[in-house]
Amino acid sequence: MKAWLLEGFDGLSSLRLASDVARPEVASDQVLVRIRYAALNPADRFLSEKMYPATPPLPHILGRDGCGVIEEVGREVTAWKVGDRVTLLRGEAGVQRWGTLAEFLVVPQEVLVPIPDGWDDPQAAAAPLVYLTAHQALTQWGPVEDGVVLITGVSGGVGMAALHLAKAMGHRVIGLTRGTAKHEKLLEQGADLLLDPTDADPGRDQDSDRIPTPLKQQIKAFTEKKGVNIVVDNIGGELFSTLLDVMANKGGISTIGALGGPVPSFNTAKLIFKRTKIGGVYVNDYYGHRARSAWTEILALLTKVGKKPVVDSIFPMGELLDAFAHLAQGPIGKVVIKIAEQSLCNPSARR
Ligand SMILES: NC(=O)c1ccc[n+]([C@@H]2O[C@H](COP(=O)([O-])OP(=O)(O)OC[C@H]3O[C@@H](n4cnc5c(N)ncnc54)[C@H](OP(=O)(O)O)[C@@H]3O)[C@@H](O)[C@H]2O)c1
Repeated sequence: MKAWLLEGFDGLSSLRLASDVARPEVASDQVLVRIRYAALNPADRFLSEKMYPATPPLPHILGRDGCGVIEEVGREVTAWKVGDRVTLLRGEAGVQRWGTLAEFLVVPQEVLVPIPDGWDDPQAAAAPLVYLTAHQALTQWGPVEDGVVLITGVSGGVGMAALHLAKAMGHRVIGLTRGTAKHEKLLEQGADLLLDPTDADPGRDQDSDRIPTPLKQQIKAFTEKKGVNIVVDNIGGELFSTLLDVMANKGGISTIGALGGPVPSFNTAKLIFKRTKIGGVYVNDYYGHRARSAWTEILALLTKVGKKPVVDSIFPMGELLDAFAHLAQGPIGKVVIKIAEQSLCNPSARR
């Protein structure tokens, strides 16, 4: 089969497109999926750079998201039959085991779910990891009613998923995106207020909390001085101190990613008076039954607001490195790779 092999941990330059990789064998409780589309996540690159908490044996195949058609089932498999259209929910694929950037994938039967009605293949490939992550980020602080949610990196995969889910949960959403190029699309997807994180002027924030920066002023006005109930933070870095300043009483910051680098030192006194909570989000915590029940809730929430996963672009399998470069620039939604020559639902090469 054709597959992108990761042959070292020197980053994406360690990837090679091979056409003679042996098709994986199917054990009795496993399913062989012919992959149609895979979706990229920043963690794929981090793993190739040894910057992820997993070091699989080499050669490895990256790709944690993907959808396709069942080609073969093991003799104990009862949930699926040959020809079923499926998408991969959450499992070890692309992390400790071979992933979706290949023509075939072997997985345990329980990590698959049917493609939701009305979704095309690229949408199905794009959704699971980011929506499960966003779901965990929004629910880990317990029930919050009619709150304000602030999402950093709102235009990215996790950001868009969090935007859809937060709106469906009844919250108002402030999204942070650099510049204004993505505003129109983000407003269409439901954002209530869009701000530029570079207006935070974090250097000044470090020195004095009393000087109101443009970002803080606008958040204060939008929340009528009450502050933000939940932050979905994909960025970290210098912005983090500003996030602490705009929290409502007993609000929670869900830390997902650190695209902005390490957080400079901040005064922990900022946590005290509003009893602010900070907690990590780790999608791998959603596995098996937990992933399935979260997925059921996610689909119900998306149906409620009539939203589907947003696909930024689709690249052919041979252009994987261009696709990773595009992902690093900050897409709107998900970057997807077309693996199979034929698509069931969407024949366009790129959009
Ligand atoms: N903890 C977990 O379980 C988990 C799960 C999934 C993802 N993650 C992590 O969460 C982060 C976001 O993932 P994603 O899939 O949403 O990524 P993504 O699709 O690349 O989107 C990130 C967005 O953040 C903005 N951005 C990118 N680099 C930035 C920088 N250096 N400074 C400020 N803003 C920047 C961009 O938006 P603008 O250009 O519009 O500003 C971009 O669209 C990644 O670090 C990823 O590894 C963690």
